[in-house]
Amino acid sequence: MRQNIYDNESFAMQYDKMRKEQKGYNANDLIEIPNFRNLIPNVKGKRVLDLGCGYGENCRYCIENGALYVLGIDISKHMLDIANKENLVNGIEYVNMAMEDISQIDKKFDIVISSLAFHYIKDFKKLMKDIYNLLDENGTLVFSIDHPLRIASIFEPWMEKNYIELNGKWFLLVSDYSRNGLREKKWNGEIVKKYHRNFSELINNITDSGLKIDKLLEPLPTEEMIQKVPKYIHQIDRPFFLFVKAVK
Ligand SMILES: C[S@@+](CC[C@H](N)C(=O)[O-])C[C@H]1O[C@@H](n2cnc3c(N)ncnc32)[C@H](O)[C@@H]1O
Repeated sequence: MRQNIYDNESFAMQYDKMRKEQKGYNANDLIEIPNFRNLIPNVKGKRVLDLGCGYGENCRYCIENGALYVLGIDISKHMLDIANKENLVNGIEYVNMAMEDISQIDKKFDIVISSLAFHYIKDFKKLMKDIYNLLDENGTLVFSIDHPLRIASIFEPWMEKNYIELNGKWFLLVSDYSRNGLREKKWNGEIVKKYHRNFSELINNITDSGLKIDKLLEPLPTEEMIQKVPKYIHQIDRPFFLFVKAVK
């Protein structure tokens, strides 16, 4: 079932606040965005599709780096309102559409990108096939998701954290790793539905579509990152994100 949590007023308010107030210090800005953008191939003259584009920051980044055209789609009207206000420049089009429906798009793309959105999709196999069909020959897919080890455990109300700290060291608590499927957890005051997929499920769904994996990335914290936010040293013990680059 599709959830459009970013259109839930109280969730959206807290999410926007987190992204704005912790600007430059949150995991998105310090870890996700730089690593994600490093994986995107040269966009000069390319047609780009951004799935779950949110505020449209990556759409704008692509246009500012020479992309010919960027289509950003998102299920949330709230996120697209902000995208249209803050990140609408020549060459970008934002469309209110769910990723589950992208087979309806009648264009081809050189590059498909998606940052932290695929873990909201139940049928990952279909999504990969749809992306394969939308990509032109030699096209590239770059995406990031919550790391499978981080969201594997089926949440129980008595669980506060998914790690324990002993003598200053973090030990990750991982359960249910091989039970692929729905994970429901409170975030910003609401129950958010995500889908856990173990590594074999992820990789096989990608390659079964016909795409070939070019690179996987589980970034380590940099010195600069640790100086800004010391707790990010624990990224070494508890990876936040997984990045994938695949080619047609
Ligand atoms: C964590 S935000 C990331 C936004 C943006 N990619 C970024 O990096 O700033 C996840 C986005 O995925 C969108 N999303 C979630 N489920 C979706 C679906 N089924 N179809 C399209 N977009 C979806 C949400 O509305 C939200 O904008």
